Amino acid sequence: MSANRRSRNWYGKLDKDGFIHRSWMKNQGFPDHVFDGRPIIGICNTWSELTPCNSGLRELAEAVKRGVWEAGGFPVEFPVMSLGETQMKPTAMLFRNLLAMDVEESIRAYGIDGVVLLGGCDKTTPGQLMGACSVDLPAIVVSAGPMLNGKWKGKDIGSGTDVWKFSEAVRAGQMSLKDFMAAESGMSRSRGVCMTMGTASTMASLVEAMGMSLPLNAALPAVDARRTALAHMTGRRIVEMVEEDLKPSDILTRAAFENAILANAAVGGSTNAVVHLLAIAGRVGVDLRLEDFEIGADVPLLVNCMPSGKYLMEDFCYAGGMPVVLSELAGAGLLRANRTVMGGDISAYAEGAECYNRDVIRPFDDPLKPAAGIRVLKGNLAPNGAIVKPSAATPELLEHEGPAFVFESIEDLKANIDRDDLPVTHDTILVLKGCGPKGYPGMPEVGNMPIPKRLVQQGVRDMVRISDARMSGTAFGTVVLHVSPEAQAGGPLALVRTGDRIRLSAREGRLELLVDEAELSRRRAEWRPEPPHYTRGYAKLYIDHVLQADRGADLDFLVGKDTRPVTRESH
Ligand code: FES
Ligand code: MG
Repeated sequence: MSANRRSRNWYGKLDKDGFIHRSWMKNQGFPDHVFDGRPIIGICNTWSELTPCNSGLRELAEAVKRGVWEAGGFPVEFPVMSLGETQMKPTAMLFRNLLAMDVEESIRAYGIDGVVLLGGCDKTTPGQLMGACSVDLPAIVVSAGPMLNGKWKGKDIGSGTDVWKFSEAVRAGQMSLKDFMAAESGMSRSRGVCMTMGTASTMASLVEAMGMSLPLNAALPAVDARRTALAHMTGRRIVEMVEEDLKPSDILTRAAFENAILANAAVGGSTNAVVHLLAIAGRVGVDLRLEDFEIGADVPLLVNCMPSGKYLMEDFCYAGGMPVVLSELAGAGLLRANRTVMGGDISAYAEGAECYNRDVIRPFDDPLKPAAGIRVLKGNLAPNGAIVKPSAATPELLEHEGPAFVFESIEDLKANIDRDDLPVTHDTILVLKGCGPKGYPGMPEVGNMPIPKRLVQQGVRDMVRISDARMSGTAFGTVVLHVSPEAQAGGPLALVRTGDRIRLSAREGRLELLVDEAELSRRRAEWRPEPPHYTRGYAKLYIDHVLQADRGADLDFLVGKDTRPVTRESH
């Protein structure tokens, strides 16, 4: 057993401090020999009944423990803040950085040598990785896994994606409220995360592409026994990782982030991956920029899952999952060499991958859509950038010029979007302000504004929409997001008025407000920010310190890491 193991500084001492650390742990029935210097493995659990997506993580933690014991380690499970995307107001994103702080400080303060991160729902995966990267002990991810396919009236229905569709159908008078309510129970019929390629499955897929989990972690359904076995094997592997001192900084190199960006394009992944990858990179010390997402721009869409395609995660699993996608990227010469939690190269995840359904995972040379990766937009409306997801957009609208109709806030939008006299046509560009990191606060998923009712009734299903918000990974449409700087920070978005003309060109990567500079200067001189929505507590800390979307919306003082040993004792 290694004498200089980190946990020895807690449990290896023969003095009063060692007594205290060991004795209180023994109240749980642990015998003397588990303190003999074996690796102590933290199991960082975001289980919560208020995060239904993560409700299976209690059982998975038990499987991880079996693996840790089997490999000669000592597993200790601890809870951290859980973020239930569908249950928290004003938005779970407000708390991603708080979870990251909780994870970071829990790992650092306790006498553990390595950590297994149990997450799933959208913000839990990036929050846990951000925190773990800032301590940089050996770490590995086990995801909650997707729900079984939604089923309703004999058809597959997808988390989120079909909620947006059903809700528009109700507004258009094409679906009854009774049917709408009945679909709720069919949509979410097992434990697990959204079974569309929403943010949760996107992040799990990218974690796999970056080599931070075992292969197949992303797609195995939450309730599939093979996920339990994967958790068991992960418990075994983290013990070896501690012996090898294989840390996140060894795995999350620039190449890993590039593989994540390429994979995000191939799976038709969530726009939210942009802010999360930028934030994780900031923690681990990789200089990733918004512009770097352009390396995925020409990658075709291979995975035929909602919201960009028609299938669901269960189908993706049965078709072969991420190993097939990685093998397609490798075959096209795109996959970057990079180390994984297994110790070898990421190409080992792709080797021998077989696809069992070519309609679900398309070959690279016969994709679902060409050039599907997220496009970065720049221009006088977004000096620091904005993004659009072409795979989920209407191709004709990606090159569009039209007059703006402006909503000054989310309340303004909700009060007016369904007005019968709203002066909009399908050419209008809807603009929403005040939904950025500082403005809302927390940058909620409201960027996919509803189509005005009078246009829905005319059959319009998509329009260009622009905001400083995010949108759900399950959403679709020609939606320009993450405009930076945001309106509340005084970005040009704050100056847009109804009737101004705006030009969007995804092909050229441009987003222009066609108003002359003299007029914009006049408006800028008159502009005042809204008073902040919070003046105390964590939300105030967040508003005062949050970085803009192009920097990942982390808190400024959390960027980077602190790997110094903790030497001072508690008594
Ligand atoms: Fe939790 Fe979608 S709401 S994963
Ligand atoms: Mg979401």
